Amino acid sequence: MSTSNETLTGMEAPALGPTRRPARDFAVPAPLKSHGPARIIAMCNQKGGVGKTTTSINLGAALAEYGRRVLAVDFDPQGALSAGLGVDNHDATTIYDLLLNPRLDPRDAIQRTSTPGLDVIAANIDLSAAEVHLVNEVAREQILARVLRKVADDYDLILVDCQPSLGLLTVNALTAAHGVLIPLESEFFALRGVALLKETIEKVQDRLNPALQLDGILVTMYDSRTLHAREVMERVVDAFGETVLETVVRRTVKFPDASVAGVPVTQFAPDHSAAEVYRQLARELIHRGAIA
Ligand SMILES: Nc1ncnc2c1ncn2[C@@H]1O[C@H](COP(=O)(O)OP(=O)(O)O)[C@@H](O)[C@H]1O
Ligand SMILES: [Mg+2]
Repeated sequence: MSTSNETLTGMEAPALGPTRRPARDFAVPAPLKSHGPARIIAMCNQKGGVGKTTTSINLGAALAEYGRRVLAVDFDPQGALSAGLGVDNHDATTIYDLLLNPRLDPRDAIQRTSTPGLDVIAANIDLSAAEVHLVNEVAREQILARVLRKVADDYDLILVDCQPSLGLLTVNALTAAHGVLIPLESEFFALRGVALLKETIEKVQDRLNPALQLDGILVTMYDSRTLHAREVMERVVDAFGETVLETVVRRTVKFPDASVAGVPVTQFAPDHSAAEVYRQLARELIHRGAIA
């Protein structure tokens, strides 16, 4: 089976990336003249370990490097985003507190990170009780939206790092969001779950948030040395076409290493391709208009 550029290496043919499109370099964005109100993007996939948290952290950090004001919201009781950004999630006010107590000011829950321009609202295991508490609330799907509305003017982008489920918390994220990004592990069975996720997105569009857009599918954990990975890529592009982002994140140990250090990879290994790929993703999303 032919995959990326092997069959198209004629003299005049442009080099193709893994998505079978020209491997473009997206322009470095101009600084913004003014800030806010934020576009909200939910990072969603009900499968765990596909790169949601890694993408939230590193896309956020790359955009902050480009002068965007970014708020990352940890919306997973595992608290991996909080840990990966090195912020306190024990004594701090968390997203759980904000969901349950509308009188709290979300600005009091915002913590700075070591990357200037990238702030975070933390989460911890308390959040696992939120669905039970919120299920009987009025407009229970809109509670996160109400929280984020209060801080939207202070940011250009709010990234919501969802937990691996399609439950009420994820529906809250999709209801609050303008766009969804789906990180997809380069793995044979990865496609199976996307149909279900797209159904959930369509239900939310239908009933709660008609303006919600699918901003892109990001292939992660890609290993170009294996035929398997190239075949998966081929199938992803066949299934989702232009929705698949041209930027593809390769598998590298720099990501877990950076998480352990509690900093984005853009800071842990600024010159490594792992940092550069998330800068490219930032540029691509700005180029596509998903981010200002
Ligand atoms: N491109 C990558 N290459 C190698 N490891 C990665 C990559 N992206 C993420 N990881 C690692 O894989 C694990 C799961 O990633 P994570 O972003 O936490 O996924 P999710 O949030 O979807 O559960 C983490 O240990 C993370 O450091
Ligand atoms: Mg995660």
